[in-house]
Amino acid sequence: MTALNVNIDHVATLRQARGGNEPSPVEAALAAEKAGAAGIVAHLREDRRHILDGDLLELRRRISTRLNMEMAATGEMTDIALSVLPDMATLVPEKREELTTEGGLEVAGNRRAVADVVSTLREKGVAVSLFIEPDCEQVEAAADVGANMVEIHTGALANAASQKNADREIRLIKNVVSSALSAGLPVSAGHGLDYWNAGAVAAIRGIEELNIGYSIICRAVFDGMEKAVRDMIKIIGGKPD
Ligand code: PXP
Repeated sequence: MTALNVNIDHVATLRQARGGNEPSPVEAALAAEKAGAAGIVAHLREDRRHILDGDLLELRRRISTRLNMEMAATGEMTDIALSVLPDMATLVPEKREELTTEGGLEVAGNRRAVADVVSTLREKGVAVSLFIEPDCEQVEAAADVGANMVEIHTGALANAASQKNADREIRLIKNVVSSALSAGLPVSAGHGLDYWNAGAVAAIRGIEELNIGYSIICRAVFDGMEKAVRDMIKIIGGKPD
């Protein structure tokens, strides 16, 4: 079984469009939990374009599953994570001009800086996942800097223009999953996963969790949050190959 963690950032995107209180990302998280989500993911971006600091504190107080805070590996975000104390922090690269997270974290070239953030968070009981490209060098570096988990970036699979390219990406991901497991790192995956491509990723043995946001929130506009989450769980909750 592959667990589903629901990213509720884009409920906050809609709220920020008018700067009021609705729709509430926390209410979306509670509906996702009611429908069977194993955890909630929220990305506090440096420009606060969707999730706000107060959302994280309220999520921490009100959700009953696991809270995963996505964050850049900066001093400001580390301080906030230490005040929120999520169950897990996922370190992601962040550029102000990007529409969404582009590319994985360069762990291999920044071992010292990433290791510092990992150890600061882990000392306070926050587990750390690193969002990386499907690249074995990054897996080795993630183990080296003391991460608890890696999240494989599935953006290239999601953007594959042909079945041949998608098959190649799946092979790459399988290879990276096996090197992560050999290094003792549990694996999750996410980015750009939807109701059409998530099943193939969930079927990869060794991937424990998928972190999915945009496609679920899009479907929720028409079908409601609970149905959108249940439909995704049906797709990814089958048995691995
Ligand atoms: N995982 C990470 C690390 C992300 O940055 C994102 C996007 O915020 C996701 C998963 C979810 O991606 P999507 O919204 O495309 O499902």
